[in-house]
Amino acid sequence: MKATLFARAMAARILGQSLVSSSRSFCSGALPVQCRPPQQVLVKDGGLHVQWSQSHSSFYHRDWLHRNRPGVLSSSGQNMQESCSNAPDGIGSATLNGEKMTIDIVWKDEGLSVSEYPVNMLLEHDCSSEALNKRKMQRRPTPLKERNGGIVPRISYERVTTSEDGVFEWMDHVMRDGLCIVHDTPCHEGQVTKLARRIGNVMDTIYGEIWDVRLENDPINIAYTNLGLDLHQDLVYYESPPGLQLLHCMKFDEGIQGGNSTFADAIQAAELLRKTDKEAFDTLVRVPATFQKIHYARASPVHLKYQRPHIVLNHDEEVVGVFWAPAFEGPLQVPEAQVQRYFEAYKKFAHLVEDEANGLKISFRLKEGETVVFNNRRMLHGRTSFKPSGPASATRHLQGLSELSGQRVEKYPGGRSKLLLKAAGRWAPL
Ligand SMILES: [Fe+2]
Repeated sequence: MKATLFARAMAARILGQSLVSSSRSFCSGALPVQCRPPQQVLVKDGGLHVQWSQSHSSFYHRDWLHRNRPGVLSSSGQNMQESCSNAPDGIGSATLNGEKMTIDIVWKDEGLSVSEYPVNMLLEHDCSSEALNKRKMQRRPTPLKERNGGIVPRISYERVTTSEDGVFEWMDHVMRDGLCIVHDTPCHEGQVTKLARRIGNVMDTIYGEIWDVRLENDPINIAYTNLGLDLHQDLVYYESPPGLQLLHCMKFDEGIQGGNSTFADAIQAAELLRKTDKEAFDTLVRVPATFQKIHYARASPVHLKYQRPHIVLNHDEEVVGVFWAPAFEGPLQVPEAQVQRYFEAYKKFAHLVEDEANGLKISFRLKEGETVVFNNRRMLHGRTSFKPSGPASATRHLQGLSELSGQRVEKYPGGRSKLLLKAAGRWAPL
């Protein structure tokens, strides 16, 4: 049971930052550590000013302080239910307790009751422009090619299936780099599910819980042919596309020519577009594409359609989501005046991700026993076409599944910080 809880917690970590966050912040900078007490505390302007150092100060509004006073959390982990009208008129005084490392606030209108705020709690929630910028920088994903020379991180099946630290390490790789290979996965049916259970819940999709990527006579998806697949994300016509995907290479005969796996960091591509053509970037942020899967001639007919822009920003203009799947786009349904700009921007983004010269795309040949795990909210994936170069019976067979990672909070082993896996697919330190 412990392992299961831990695994689910681990899954929560990845999609951050829809699934993208700097690894450095992930491990070391998530929780600030204030080794020294602040230099000064002062009640002023309807709240508390804290001077942390000569160049660093923060302000905490009285309503914020009251809402977040220690003890407001119930034993169930929820905020105590209380009326907003109970907000205080003001702070009577604030005192630094250097021994306990708390800042003690006496409320004016609550019978002089005292709230003791741990210094580190206030620092953790420091919303000064300096702190906000620092967190923003920490969340910024580092492209794999810059961080690791384009080498996909690897971990053994044995480590991730027998050790909680192994699961942590595995998810850490995925969070940092967008993908990771689990090597020495036994080439048996269902091993991909065993791996997935280490990190969360398997998603039931229109292709089932597990899909076999191999040649089929009557394919319901182009993936089940030997054709090449342009870079894309899966299930973007869902309101909530899967966060993580796993692909287990069960059979890949040497007699198969081609069939290389390709990946590209979509968030990096979006940032590159912003840098090189702001107008095109803004167009893809604003104009909704139509994603669809409409297929009645199958055992389970489907008619799924969803309009959304290709690039999604958060409140701070950071790219937190990219939706890209050319093979699953329907007719554009936007005001006529937006059509030309949309297609101009669309072509530029397509060129960015597919053109080898841009350096975004990586390509490698999976080996039997390797399972590639990737963040579907961040990484585009595809493959080159393939054909037998030897015996006609030569086979390429991958078994895959999706995970729907929601928002979960977890605690890292070894006293590491809590992280939040955001729906957009990026992990953010809390
Ligand atoms: Fe796919």
